[in-house]
Formats: sequence, C-alpha cells, structure tokens
Amino acid sequence: MNSNQQQPSLSPPSLSSSRWWSKDTVAIVTGANKGIGFALVKRFAELGVSVILTARDNVKGLQAVETLMAQGLHVHFFRLDVSDPASIHSFVSWFKLRFSALDILVNNAAVSFNEIGENCASMEHVETVINTNFYGPKLLTESLLPFFRHSSASTSRILNISSRLGLFNQKLKNKKIKEIFEDEERLSEEQINIMVNLFLQNVKQGTWKNQGWPEEWTDYAVSKLALSAYSKVLAKRYEGRGLSVNCFCPGFTQTSMTRGKGTHSAEDAAKVGAWLALLPPEDLLTGKFYIARSNLGFGLNVQKLFVVLSLKAHKTKSNLFSSDAWGIWQPCTKD
Ligand SMILES: NC(=O)c1ccc[n+]([C@@H]2O[C@H](COP(=O)([O-])OP(=O)(O)OC[C@H]3O[C@@H](n4cnc5c(N)ncnc54)[C@H](OP(=O)(O)O)[C@@H]3O)[C@@H](O)[C@H]2O)c1
Repeated sequence: MNSNQQQPSLSPPSLSSSRWWSKDTVAIVTGANKGIGFALVKRFAELGVSVILTARDNVKGLQAVETLMAQGLHVHFFRLDVSDPASIHSFVSWFKLRFSALDILVNNAAVSFNEIGENCASMEHVETVINTNFYGPKLLTESLLPFFRHSSASTSRILNISSRLGLFNQKLKNKKIKEIFEDEERLSEEQINIMVNLFLQNVKQGTWKNQGWPEEWTDYAVSKLALSAYSKVLAKRYEGRGLSVNCFCPGFTQTSMTRGKGTHSAEDAAKVGAWLALLPPEDLLTGKFYIARSNLGFGLNVQKLFVVLSLKAHKTKSNLFSSDAWGIWQPCTKD
C-alpha cells in the first residue's frame, strides 16, 4: 500500500455524518442479555437510539440492563422468549402501550445444541432450535409489522442475524429443495414451511442423513436457512413500502455459542451489525445477506471487513461488493 492510499481503519465508518435517527428512533434486539445481542444494544444506546433490550430470563435481562446503566447507558427492558407465542404476545402488548412506532428490529436470539461431530441429537433439541431460530423470529416479526414507522425521512429495517451455515446455495445438497429455493419468483412462506416440516419428518424417521441436508450443525443450519429464505420473501413483500429486510452473518464470533472461540469479539461483530442496521436510507438495500468474512485470522480479517465497509461509504456499492444471483453480498478482498 503506498502512502497515498487510504489507511485501514479499525472500526466501521463514523455514523455521525450520516445520522438520520434521533432519540425517538426505537430499536428492539432479541436475545440481548449476552453475546452479540448485548453488544448490539450497547452500541445502539451509545449512538443515541432508544433501544429495548429483551431476554428470555428476567434476572439475566435485568443484570444486563444494570451493567449498561453502570456505564451511563439507559435502555428499556422487557422479558421475551421468542420460542413462546404467549411471551411474544405479552411483549407486543407491552410495546404497543409504551411506544408509538418501531424503526429497527434485530432478530438476534438463537440457540444451538450442537457439539462438534454431534448433530440432531434429539428430536426435542431439533424442535427447540427450529422454534427459537425460525418460527419464533417469524412470529415476532409478523406481530410487529403493524408498528413499523412509515416515514418519508427514514426507512424502517429488520436485520436478521443469520449464519453462513444456512446458505442454501452452499450447504444444501437436496436438489429438489435447492431448486425451489433458488427460484426467487416461486419462493413463498408456504414452501419454506414445507421444507422445514420435511426436515422435521426426516429427523423423526431417522432418515435426515441421506436427504441432502447441510452436513454441519444440521438443525441449526436448516433453521437459519429458513430464516434467510423468509427474509427474502418478506423483503419482496415490502419492496418500495418503507421497510428493508436483510440478513447478517457476524462471522465466527467469541460468544457462549462458540464456547468463547472465534476470530473476533461480540463487540466487533456488533459494530458492523449496528452499522448495517443504521445505514442511511439512501444506502439501505433490501433482501441482502451480508457476511462478515472471518477466515483470514483475527485482527487482519476484522480490520479488512471494516476497511471494506469504511470504503463503501466513499465508493459505489458495485465497486466494493460482489453478489451472486441470490443477492449474497461479500466484501471484496482486492486489497
Ligand atoms: N457466535 C458466532 O460465531 C455466530 C456465527 C454466526 C451467527 N451467529 C448468530 O448470532 C446471534 C447471536 O449469537 P451469539 O453468538 O451472541 O450467541 P449467545 O452468546 O449464545 O447468545 C444467544 C442469545 O440468545 C438468547 N436466547 C436463546 N434462546 C432464546 C429464546 N428462546 N428467547 C429469547 N432469547 C433466547 C440467549 O439467552 P440465554 O442467555 O438465556 O441462553 C442469548 O442471550 C445468533 O443468531 C447466532 O445464531 C453467531
């Protein structure tokens, strides 16, 4: 790199220059008592967004709120177990009473029971994973749709925290299902449900291993596959109607889900996630899957990602990202 080229920065571009939000901007983050969810809430609060920290456990949620308060950050809290429709109902009723509109929803909560080399260990675990990572976020999203703000000055946004393990063009070997998923025109909620039910049936019958489902973290991958496909369908439903829906894979991040392993911290992942969630309306795309690359080693990779995102602020999107037919956007690695 010569001295005239832009020096890499270690954080995403400053959001203050493109600030469209105010303290009246409302964000909800699920599964936010720890990990990436907690870091996202902290980041939103630091940036002056009114943020609702939700957690399935009251004690853990309130502890997280206290930790933030000790740092001078005020956030709202309500208990929310995304796998429980009654809990979603209570949360939405509370939200309706307390807030006039919603600007940002981050579906972050997720669960995985997979140890390395262990897959779909029990039907109970598989159902919990599918309910928590797919049906729960879907029900919460559908319940909150009436509350998204429709304003000419901003665009409401949903950021679904997904995983590259759930990319159907890479991990899914079942040709029939892959074909349905790759046909954007035909893809529907009904087809996603059929796919999930077929998977559950295969697990119940003990036949899932030779049906072409993703081989690693299978139930988790299928749940994220379904979430990504649903995001795509929802994005299409709301195209041009003031609501953007995107997915974000934070990369291999040091949290309890990875037992502390990973190439970067939850705070690093959250900086990028919050940056994506707060993109100015003119830069906000919809129906995309953003991936944080994390296969180049700690530091370099995170730095690289941030550099790419930093540069994005100054160049056109086509210079900086490559996409395939499914709108999977990856930072370019020219440098
Ligand atoms: N870490 C990675 O490398 C990685 C990579 C790709 C994608 N992701 C995604 O990133 C997101 C955050 O994961 P993380 O790495 O931060 O994991 P984490 O530290 O295990 O956090 C998961 C959060 O989800 C909550 N949760 C679990 N089940 C819930 C339910 N039924 N209702 C509400 N909250 C629930 C957990 O609460 P409890 O404390 O009560 O269990 C916890 O707060 C997830 O969507 C994950 O799939 C992570």
